[in-house]
Amino acid sequence: THQWRGVIAEYADRLPAHVQQTIVTLGEGGTPLVPAPAIGDRIGAEVFVKVEGMNPTGSFKDRGMTTAISAAAARGARAVVCASTGNTSASAAAYATRAGMVCAVLVPDGKIAMGKLSQAVAHGARLLQVDGNFDDCLVAARKLAEAHPVELVNSVNPDRIEGQKTAAFEVVDVLGDAPDIHVLPVGNAGNITAYWKGYTEYADLAAGPVRASRTPVMWGFQAAGAAPIVLGHPVDEPETIATAIRIGNPASWRQAEEARDASGGVIEAVTDEQILAAHRLLAAEVGVFVEPASAAGVAGVLSRAERGLVPPGARIVITVTGHGLKDPGWALRTPDGGEVVPTRVTADVVSIADALGLY
Ligand code: F0G
Repeated sequence: THQWRGVIAEYADRLPAHVQQTIVTLGEGGTPLVPAPAIGDRIGAEVFVKVEGMNPTGSFKDRGMTTAISAAAARGARAVVCASTGNTSASAAAYATRAGMVCAVLVPDGKIAMGKLSQAVAHGARLLQVDGNFDDCLVAARKLAEAHPVELVNSVNPDRIEGQKTAAFEVVDVLGDAPDIHVLPVGNAGNITAYWKGYTEYADLAAGPVRASRTPVMWGFQAAGAAPIVLGHPVDEPETIATAIRIGNPASWRQAEEARDASGGVIEAVTDEQILAAHRLLAAEVGVFVEPASAAGVAGVLSRAERGLVPPGARIVITVTGHGLKDPGWALRTPDGGEVVPTRVTADVVSIADALGLY
């Protein structure tokens, strides 16, 4: 009787009525906020990671998909479409199946992590690999939704933002107030938009019960090869090993800048090397296995700490957006690009103890 009921039921008083008529849920949200002293001690701050890989399909997208698909169901939609670097498609496919809808997904050919592709297929999505990047897929998905009876469930759909803002609510509900700084990766920029909305609503004096005394400073991080907001112009051919955020023209660009500026924050770039180092640190020292894009926030905080830009003792929450099992191959590579080869032993205790260095 104490099971978490999913973000719509848990935050009913903070969500619009139209997402609550026909609730489609897989029990998303309620994810762990894990103290990360391995990061905090290193930079002289108090750090927590919000582990969004613990959502039903393994990423934060589920928070927005429960609201988007529920709203679509209430309107009687039979089919949905999304463009995706992988996680949105996995989530849309699962929630659409749950609602008895057809789900079409447009993904950039060859640039999707295998775990995500497998999910979309397993949940019965109509998967189309598009000869183009994510930005091309999103343009096509928007046009398809305009011309046909198919609802768009990318984060340009405001119902997605409503669901995703609940992650900020959970942080405040656990910590008792907003953190000093909230950090996250930025791709299409829906999630930074959603967190800012959530934090703003919880701190809004006009909105009834006040749950937070303030809003946090927002720090967003893009991959260096896909950093249009940092550069100030779209990137035609975005490139990064963090395929989830391989995006050159984010749909919520303006909203991301607004979150940055209104909070007194920054949006900066981190290199693939910094991302992979943070990915290793999270797994090896914090105990949380994430996909590469999800480590961009940690990479960014470490980079700012090196430059003396982390306020001493600050309380920092870093969202790690997706599960490591989505794209597990990176863990089997060494920092210099080699391959991790497991040690082979015969099935006897002497050779096993020997291999482990026990004498
Ligand atoms: N981290 C992960 C694991 C993601 O999958 C995404 C976005 C982001 C961060 C960035 O979030 O787009 O809201 O700024 N993935 C989308 C997708 C684009 O299609 O799955 P954002």
